[in-house]
Amino acid sequence: MYGMAVLDPIVQFHEWFAEAQATEPHDPTAMSLATVSPDGRPSVRMVLLKHADSRGFVFYTNLQSPKSVALRSNHRGALCLHWPKLERQVRIDGVVESVKGEEADAYFATRPRLSQLGAWASRQSQPMAGRFELEREVALVAARFAVGAVPRPPHWSGWRVVPEQIEFWHQRAFRHHDRQRFTRDGELWRDEWLFP
Ligand SMILES: Cc1cc2nc3c(=O)[nH]c(=O)nc-3n(C[C@H](O)[C@H](O)[C@H](O)COP(=O)(O)O)c2cc1C
Repeated sequence: MYGMAVLDPIVQFHEWFAEAQATEPHDPTAMSLATVSPDGRPSVRMVLLKHADSRGFVFYTNLQSPKSVALRSNHRGALCLHWPKLERQVRIDGVVESVKGEEADAYFATRPRLSQLGAWASRQSQPMAGRFELEREVALVAARFAVGAVPRPPHWSGWRVVPEQIEFWHQRAFRHHDRQRFTRDGELWRDEWLFP
């Protein structure tokens, strides 16, 4: 990678992501999302990358979930993607912003009907008496939206991680790995290489 100067990490991300889509046997959009709760506790879970461009990296979730509470409290999140076949990792961290209503509506409309009903039915991460409780909620919303399109629930939308740093890690023999880290500098990106 040295010498092959890619000065836009978003372009570099899309090159790597395209290769991951072609090679990974499992979902290459899976990424861990780290947040910090209002009382300072770190928390990490998997989410799916649904959109990436120069504005940032988007995933969708329940807006009342613990991750959303954390993101509303300190506006910071970190992502990590790992593509084992390619022996590559990408780390992203930055500030989060909410995805605009129209953008979330457009994505929600592409989801299978049962996923849409699930988004209405689930009080994500709240205790549940048993599966029947979820099934009852799904049945209730299925009846409520029996005719026509299912609208996006007000408690479900996307978050965009607007990157301040993006690091590309590529495994090399004997742990002499390549690491290139980009840091946002106003409108530009600065890059540097890190010891593995
Ligand atoms: C591969 C994978 C992908 C996932 N994608 C999402 C997602 O895109 N959005 C989401 O809300 N939860 C997703 N989940 C579930 C989350 O990991 C998590 O259990 C849930 O969002 C509750 O997190 P919270 O209590 O920290 O808010 C995914 C889980 C896995 C294993």
